[in-house]
Amino acid sequence: MALVAVGVLLAAVSLSGLFPLSFAQAVSRGDLATGERVYKQNCFVCHGMKGDGKGPTAESMVPRPQVFTNPSFMFRVTDEYMFYVVKYGKLPVLKREILDSNFESLTMPAFGHLFEDREIRELIKFVWAFTTGEPQSPEWREIFVQACATCHGEKGRGDGERAVGQPPPDRFVSEGQPPPADLTDPVLMARFPDDFLFALIKEGSLGVNYETTPAIGHAMTGYRTMLPFSQALSDEEIWSVIQYIRETFIKDP
Ligand code: HEC
Ligand code: HEC
Repeated sequence: MALVAVGVLLAAVSLSGLFPLSFAQAVSRGDLATGERVYKQNCFVCHGMKGDGKGPTAESMVPRPQVFTNPSFMFRVTDEYMFYVVKYGKLPVLKREILDSNFESLTMPAFGHLFEDREIRELIKFVWAFTTGEPQSPEWREIFVQACATCHGEKGRGDGERAVGQPPPDRFVSEGQPPPADLTDPVLMARFPDDFLFALIKEGSLGVNYETTPAIGHAMTGYRTMLPFSQALSDEEIWSVIQYIRETFIKDP
């Protein structure tokens, strides 16, 4: 018991350095058993029992649910980011609508005014070649470097200069915002069908998150990123499920 208490104390001390005291003190970080129950009741249908993003409804979702077994995602996100996404949904986090948070999210911008549809399709081919290792045309490399590399990095690894912490006001990624995914990682890229990428590049992340997206020219159920669970779950249950996800699906760095 004493050891646990010391652990909790240390955790509280280190947290208070990073976050406003009230935030660190106000909520308990939950427990694994609660997390497991919450996950098996609320999350597995999309994210899968094993956290592999292959739940029963995953196929019909655009983009596909996040893969918690993937280190390139899990080591880039903070628990606080995950907490806010689960509580409020991803869109309000991207739109910086979360009061009292110090998140500064800069999202994927829209490029519809710069590129014609045909060119966006070329770009998507170019982007996929990061994943497959196929040769990339020098012409499109130049365009990618100019338009995309500040965030996604010249090699597509999500490590462009704006994506790795710069001091404010230039900083792209805050404690809360994960950098753009590594385009060379097949597991992460498999979550995005081409028509989603098309709409994302054309309209930006804030543009593609609603019921219908004009960019793809036909009605579909629409792109839905993570929805809010604040009606269904308490803060403690949300912290518990984050703990469960961290400790069950990913262990060593
Ligand atoms: C209806 C399907 C669905 C359910 C249920 C669901 N999620 Fe998600 N979740 C998604 C999708 C889709 C994404 C990917 C969003 C994106 O890439 O923009 C996602 C992403 C996430 C992310 C990462 C956010 C990011 O930036 O990629 C976290 C964390 C998460 N979900 C946690 C949970 C937890 C915890 C639960 C259960 C309380 C849950 N989800 C239930 C569909 C779902
Ligand atoms: C201002 C920074 C920024 C620029 C410039 C930018 N992106 Fe993004 N991009 C992002 C962010 C952030 C995401 C993650 C979106 C999310 O989580 O909702 C993203 C997502 C993506 C994705 C989906 C995979 C992923 O990383 O999640 C692709 C593909 C992509 N961008 C391609 C491009 C292309 C092509 C260009 C240039 C035409 C470009 N981006 C320019 C920030 C940027």
